[in-house]
Amino acid sequence: MSKTKSKPVPIHATMEQFETIDNELTINGLPMTVIANIVGQTPFYAYDKSVINDTMANLRQILPTGIELHYAIKANPYLPVINHMCSLVDGFDVASKGEMLLAIQTGMPTDEISFAGPGKTNVELTSAICAGVTINVESESELTRIEQISQQLAITANIALRVNPAFELKSSGMQMTGGAKPFGIDSELVADLVIRINSSSNSFIGLHIFSGSQNLKPEALIEAHNQTFELASTILEQAQSTARSINIGGGFGIPYFPGEQHLELSEISDNLSRLLKEYQSQFGQTKIMMEFGRYLVGPAGVYICEVIDIKMSRGQKYIVTNGGLHHHLSNSGNFGQIIRKNYPVAVANKMSQTSDENVIIVGPLCTPLDIVANKVTLPSLEVGDLVVVYQSGAYGACASPQQFLGHPSVAEILL
Ligand SMILES: Cc1ncc(COP(=O)(O)O)c(C=O)c1O
Repeated sequence: MSKTKSKPVPIHATMEQFETIDNELTINGLPMTVIANIVGQTPFYAYDKSVINDTMANLRQILPTGIELHYAIKANPYLPVINHMCSLVDGFDVASKGEMLLAIQTGMPTDEISFAGPGKTNVELTSAICAGVTINVESESELTRIEQISQQLAITANIALRVNPAFELKSSGMQMTGGAKPFGIDSELVADLVIRINSSSNSFIGLHIFSGSQNLKPEALIEAHNQTFELASTILEQAQSTARSINIGGGFGIPYFPGEQHLELSEISDNLSRLLKEYQSQFGQTKIMMEFGRYLVGPAGVYICEVIDIKMSRGQKYIVTNGGLHHHLSNSGNFGQIIRKNYPVAVANKMSQTSDENVIIVGPLCTPLDIVANKVTLPSLEVGDLVVVYQSGAYGACASPQQFLGHPSVAEILL
């Protein structure tokens, strides 16, 4: 096969992180039809290591050196992905015992793993205490249970307090703070709990202030960072305590929908440098960390499904594929979207062909919610073609109801 590289036709969605070679989308140099044969089935997710590496390298280069980067495993817990991330990030954030056990098995030092999430069971708390994982405590009663368990086991628990600030991260896809929330402890109650931990035999690690996710507005993130540093400073002053670490959250978004742009990081980074200087006397010895999920892995992943049938219904062409909502709930619009919009899609084996057909791409499920792409203009599709959904490296397989209607589960591969 000759390796003439062709620029994709600009009409249908392409994402610049992947190369097109001879009419085919490639993942880390491999054409998609070859990957489909290697995997031996469609649908599948393919994740590109080189895209993850580039994202991490860019982030490290742009953000101030004092900032540590953690990966939130919930975004993509596929073991080869987590193992790869282990060599790139400074720590992991986990949200269950299951994720914690995966994280530990990558070899990440357990004191670089933090466990957040409401409703941790005593079994989960025991497991985290024994492993030496930092527990981001979500309520006073959770703290009481940790104290009881650590006392019974005679093991020091590593405790950080997750704070529910009064402010919110504006313009977020998902807001997690401000007002009454199930996440974290209301900020006005936190200083007393810091004092309580410091006067116990447990270890106070610091504060966790995660205010939202999927944010594409630098000014909103900057405002939240300013408020986060100020809040952490006030709480620690009130408690007359130092902290080993402060997790200032993450929330960097990625563009999914028409009109959305890549997040511009330079002003965010300048502001973080300024904050690190401003709070140097108080936080000079404190690790400042951020935790990201989708920003690190989302753009590196694609979802591939295969055209099974093509039909016309009253003038509308439908492309029926073997993939859909059961593998990729977020692409179907049913994972937190208010109004459904299309993720970027293309035809992986027809990348250089002109897009001239308007189609609705659906999955095999008996529900009108099972939409892969609604009214998109793509090259003329045939049975056997491979439809690609971009920006699918996060909240894909792990966030989808794969058992629904008993279709085969989706495969995954990291290349
Ligand atoms: C505590 C916490 N950390 C990290 C994340 C990851 O968010 P994202 O994938 O948008 O970066 C979430 C998302 O809900 C979260 O709740």
